[in-house]
This record gives sequence, structure tokens and C-alpha cells, in this order.
Amino acid sequence: MDRILVNGNGPLKGVTHASGAKNAALPILAASLLADGEHTFRNVPELVDVRTMLRLLAQMGCEAERLEGKKKHVCQVKVGGALTPEAPYELVKTMRASVLVLGPLVARYGRARVSLPGGCAIGARPIDQHLKGLKALGAEIELAEGYVEARAKQLKGAVVAFDLVTVTGTENLMMAAALAKGRTVLENAAREPEVEELAKVLNKMGARITGAGSSEITIEGVPGLHPVDHAIIPDRIETGTLLVAAAITGGEVLVQNAVPEHLEALLLKLRETGCRIEARDGGLWVKGPAKLSPVNIKTLEHPGFPTDMQAQLMALMTVAEGTSIISEHIFENRFMHVAELRRMGADISVEGPTAVVKGVKGLSGAPVMATDLRASASLIVAGLRAEGRTEVSRVYHLDRGYERLEKKLRALGADIRRVKG
Ligand code: EPZ
Repeated sequence: MDRILVNGNGPLKGVTHASGAKNAALPILAASLLADGEHTFRNVPELVDVRTMLRLLAQMGCEAERLEGKKKHVCQVKVGGALTPEAPYELVKTMRASVLVLGPLVARYGRARVSLPGGCAIGARPIDQHLKGLKALGAEIELAEGYVEARAKQLKGAVVAFDLVTVTGTENLMMAAALAKGRTVLENAAREPEVEELAKVLNKMGARITGAGSSEITIEGVPGLHPVDHAIIPDRIETGTLLVAAAITGGEVLVQNAVPEHLEALLLKLRETGCRIEARDGGLWVKGPAKLSPVNIKTLEHPGFPTDMQAQLMALMTVAEGTSIISEHIFENRFMHVAELRRMGADISVEGPTAVVKGVKGLSGAPVMATDLRASASLIVAGLRAEGRTEVSRVYHLDRGYERLEKKLRALGADIRRVKG
């Protein structure tokens, strides 16, 4: 298993860029199942999760591949002919987002057999809302041997009121409703930029979706869709992670391709810590302060503060001048980075969904273990500031969602390298 070694090495400086968004690429790749023909997706990040989704599509019978060389960020998916509408446990257990093939398969092929994702490090993460929505559209759902079996001759439009906001639940239902007969209204829908992006792609394929980005999305079903050529939006969470890396080192960095509108809640909080942040040259410029001010964070559904930035912001606040209160309201177990940050000298106490972070003078490098995707990023961010060497193990978590983060940080002056394990 690879490890990442990082030595605190002063302020980061220079220009970097955000890669394509993981959480946009995954539903968009799944959407290719909705239309026969050759789909082309550009600016697709080179991530383990994207490779898993391509493997899943190929295993079903699609031709799904990433091009080589200069075109390595282009993926092509050819759909057509015989297709096995199944997502096996072996793949789904490595990536819950595999559940995104459920809606397209039922809508297009009338049936799907998808392994229940099971829990993951950050929480139980059930998919009851996905299933409730598909049932409302007329699908018959059976759970057997850890699999969801879904069938429907023809999905019919309906009103689906989610009991709670779910990003992939909203995406699954948008894709299913695209080919349903009649109108579907999704109420209490997720408002993430990735949901809006998926609706844009589906409309380019011939769907009729309005309201994406708001909490009420209307989908007028159509008889069929056609293949698409689309470039994926930049990753707002990777952008936020790069901004925090600059901030914790008191550095000055320009993140190109960043979209400020996708990160308003985060940018507000970073400014509260004393960072100067400006939209510049098609990206975001940040200058970290000499002294970081503490802030209070509550993770909420978009446009609230993103849960995927909670661990990174916590790392930043470990060296603020004062106490920060960080509460996690989306997932029930997303504080596993706390024990590891403590090993580096952070002063954090956790009570239920709330962490109290008392700023300390400095962190010291230590061997730490990544427990999940964003926790890995949090530990690397802390390592950039820590005195001495931090060794982050189990970085396979990191590779799921960041395209060679250590290379981008090294190009900004960080003393960081990967050791093949
Ligand atoms: C998406 O996960 C993202 N993943 C997550 O990013 C992100 O943290 C999350 O949304 C919240 O923003 C992708 O887009 C691929 P949810 P998702 O359904 O859709 C509960 C990362 O780091 N819930 O919005 O799985 C659920 O347990 C990943 O890139 C139900 O109870 O999240 C959670 O507590 C991590 N029943 C809350 O809702 C359901 O049917 C939000 O989950 C669905 C969800």
C-alpha cells in the first residue's frame, strides 16, 4: 500500500488547477446507459472511482475506455447491443456510487440487479430514498441476498417527495424519470452543482428537465435519448482542498479552472479565517494570513457548507488562534480524522456530531493513517504545516478522489512524495 511522506516546508506558492469533478463524472458516466451510441466525456479526472465506474459499464457489456496520452482525460462509452443490467457486489462494495446505474437500467432495460452498497467508513449510507422514488415511478423492488432487484415494463411519471436531501438519490431519480411516461416532480431535491451538471447532460441527450439546482426538479419523460459529447465541470472539493493547503501554509496560490459560484459557503468561511480570496484569471487566487482566526462550521446540504470539506477545514482550524466549533450534520461518522490529527498535536474534543477544535501553536509530524477519502486530504494538509515528517498510510483512500494531489502540491513547493508500498 502506498504511503505519502510530507515535511512542513513553508508557504505554498504558484499556480495549479482543478481537475474534472469526481462527483459529476460518476453520475454522467452512468447516464450513458440511457442512450445507445458513442458517448464522449472530456476533462474526466484520472481517479480510482472513475476507473471502477468504467469497469462496471464494461462488465455490463458497454465498451467503456479512457483514451491514452494527450487524450488521457477523454473517456468513450459505446452503448448498444446485449447488456447485462447487473452491478455485482465485488464492484459496488468498492464504490457506493455504483448505485447510480440503478435508475438508468430500470428506465432503459426494464430491470436491474444492483448490490446494496453496504455501509462505509463515514456512515450507514442507506439507499431507501432511491428505492422509494423508483417505487413511486412504478418499479417493483425486491431485496434479496444483498441485492436490489428492480423491474418495470414502463416507468410512469409521479411526484417524488424525498424524506431527506440525497445527492445520488436525486441523480438516480432524474435519470430514471427522463425515460418515464409523463411528468415527474422531485421535491426536496439536492441542489449540488453536480446535480445541475447531470441535468445539463441529460438535456443535451434530449431529456426535458427544468429546475435542477433548486429543490424542485421537473422531468417531462421522452421516448428516447441520444448519445452526448460533454466536458465535465471542475472539482469544487479538490479546489477547496487546494485553497486550504495554501491557507494553512500562509501561502499564495492561484487555482485555475475553479468556479467560485460552486464554493460560496466555503469561500465565506475561508475569508472569516483571514484568507484573502479573489476570482482571478478564470480561477481562484488565495493568500493565507500570518495568523488564522477560528470559525464555526455546520455542514449542510448545498448551498450550505459542504460535508466533503469538513475534514480539511478542521485541519486548518487546528492551528487557528482560538477555538472553532465544527458540527457534522450530513454523515453520522465523519470524524475519523480527529484521532489522527490528535497524533500530530491537535487539541480536538468530540461530543456527538460536534468537534471543539482549540488552536495550538504548531503541529508535529507523525505517522498517521487515512481512514476515508477526505480524511486523507485532511492529514496531508496538516502535514504541510507540521514540524517534521508526516507519513500518511493507506493512501488508496486518497486516490479514489484526488488526481495525484501530491504532484500538484509538490509543484507549489511542498516537500511531499509518494512511496510505493
Ligand atoms: C454524495 O454522496 C457524494 N458522492 C458524497 O461525496 C457527499 O459527501 C454526499 O453526496 C453529501 O454531499 C457522490 O456524489 C458520488 P447523500 P451520497 O445521499 O449521494 C442519507 C466524497 O467525499 N441517506 O446526499 O451517497 C445518507 O446516509 C463523497 O466525494 C439516507 O438516509 O450522499 C447521508 O447521511 C463522500 N437514505 C445523507 O442522507 C438515502 O436513500 C446524505 O447522503 C440516501 C441518503
